[in-house]
Amino acid sequence: MSITLGLETSCDETGVGIVRDGVLLGQALASSMDQHIRYGGVVPEVAARAHLESVSQVLRQALTNADVSLDQVDAIAVTSGPGLASSLHVGVSAAKAWALALNKPLYAVHHVAGHVAADTLEHGPLPERSIALIVSGGHSSLLMLGDLATDPIVHLGDTLDDAAGEAFDKVARLLGLPYPGGPSIQRAAETGDPTAVDLPRPLLGSKVSECHRYAFSFSGLKSAVARHVQLAQRTGAPLQAEDVAASFQEAVVDVLVTKAVAACRDHDIDTLLIVGGVAANARLRSVAETRCRAAGITLRVPAPKLCTDNGAMIAAIGDLIVHSGAKPSGYEFGADSSAPLDRSLLV
Ligand code: KG4
Ligand code: ZN
Repeated sequence: MSITLGLETSCDETGVGIVRDGVLLGQALASSMDQHIRYGGVVPEVAARAHLESVSQVLRQALTNADVSLDQVDAIAVTSGPGLASSLHVGVSAAKAWALALNKPLYAVHHVAGHVAADTLEHGPLPERSIALIVSGGHSSLLMLGDLATDPIVHLGDTLDDAAGEAFDKVARLLGLPYPGGPSIQRAAETGDPTAVDLPRPLLGSKVSECHRYAFSFSGLKSAVARHVQLAQRTGAPLQAEDVAASFQEAVVDVLVTKAVAACRDHDIDTLLIVGGVAANARLRSVAETRCRAAGITLRVPAPKLCTDNGAMIAAIGDLIVHSGAKPSGYEFGADSSAPLDRSLLV
């Protein structure tokens, strides 16, 4: 039996989670999102300062929520990349201080591996092989997974330009909808017509080359929305933001789910995970559910609050790594803002 504490500070959420042998005991989260709204995106300096101000309180709150005392913690995991450098530095420094003070092993983990591990808190251990569609503000990838704690992560395809969440954020801005764009677009789309605007499905269809079979590209889709908005402005036609939001959301969801199902079929893998902030999207969840059921694929998507950044996911990947018997990372590592997604344990 071992208790792992995880700390996440890669963007604008300060999260601490506490996991014992695959079970989430408790977590706490503080967000600086409100401070970024007026800038239309995360301001790194502001986010880093907010982490510094809230990290000790979030730790205390997580311990209280989990009913665990600091001296019961056996190991500490921290996001050491990728993310905003100044935000990562706060988390890595705090985690080193905690680990040194408690004389406990410290593990430097990849943020996206945490997103995948979050699902195990809800749905249990991963099967021997699975496909993961990671869709966040910084990543859009189709990954082939073995043992998440120890095996290399195989990339079937990645985005060639914008990540899915980035596309949601940029299109929201084009439509005058508030940051963060994903939830704003989802809300607007609820009353919109997804067939109103004819938008492309980038890198989908029979003409796509084999090397782009599992790749994504969302910047052309964003440009198509921009052209639609400009045309409305030029001609004075009313811009139905709800219809554009619904059409955009439908195009993104169609591309993501079609490619993810194809990846499972092609590799004869019957478990698909969808993780990362965009996995909180209700339309993505429902289309994926329908199409996976039809294809005989078991779909695993964490509850929306485990999809967006949090500390529980870092504790979850830390817990899996601890149980694998891997060597701790020591205290000499730094933050790597562009850490490649090759393995869960970065150092
Ligand atoms: O995983 P995450 O919390 O942070 C990163 O690691 O990037 O993902 C944040 C992204 C943002 O781009 C946000 O707009 C998007 O996830 N997002 C959503 C929804 N909730 C968050 N996108 C679509 N629909 C949502 N409901
Ligand atoms: Zn994330």
